[in-house]
Amino acid sequence: MATIALILGSVRRDRQGINVGMWLERMLKTREHIVHLIDPLMLDLPLLDRMYKEMTPPSKKLAELRGKIVDADGYMAVTPEYNHSISAAMKNTLDYFLEEYYFKPSSIVSYSPGAFGGINATQHLRNIFAELGAPTIPSSMSIPKVHTVFARGGKLLDAAFENRFTKFVEEFEWYIEALKNQRAKGTPY
Ligand SMILES: Cc1cc2nc3c(=O)[nH]c(=O)nc-3n(C[C@H](O)[C@H](O)[C@H](O)COP(=O)(O)O)c2cc1C
Repeated sequence: MATIALILGSVRRDRQGINVGMWLERMLKTREHIVHLIDPLMLDLPLLDRMYKEMTPPSKKLAELRGKIVDADGYMAVTPEYNHSISAAMKNTLDYFLEEYYFKPSSIVSYSPGAFGGINATQHLRNIFAELGAPTIPSSMSIPKVHTVFARGGKLLDAAFENRFTKFVEEFEWYIEALKNQRAKGTPY
């Protein structure tokens, strides 16, 4: 059992990402994980002026968000692909913090309506998580033709994704436990 921050990337009114996110949240909870859902639409954060650590005082909303990021043992991003990268909403949400992510693993689920499932966004997000000190696990889960895989409310339409998710999340859980054990012995900084 771990605490996982599930970070959504879309604030579009017609977003497919919420269907993916709701399914992932249920699947993680089925595996006994505590899930902190981080939804940029609900957060409605302004474009970054000051990072959290520079704010005097930070807003209650950001203090709560920081609590979720600090509390998490790992991060699972649910990213759309906009012009071959991640969304501005995802990047803006991540950028408010830095040290809070250190020495914890990240994992990436991407999706798109086309055949490639958002893999360009995944590659960019790997670089971003590396800079945030939350290295991304080797496997990622991409969901092509997302509108045929999920219906409203996160109803799964393509059962093949259950097995894909199991393989993916088992790897993530391995890294979560490995880094948790290592963090307990101390970190270099
Ligand atoms: C500004 C914008 C740029 C997009 N660029 C890409 C792209 O480069 N590659 C792709 O596969 N889909 C692209 N799409 C399609 C999105 O993947 C699709 O709209 C998806 O549903 C977005 O996720 P969301 O519905 O959760 O916002 C783009 C969509 C938008 C709005």
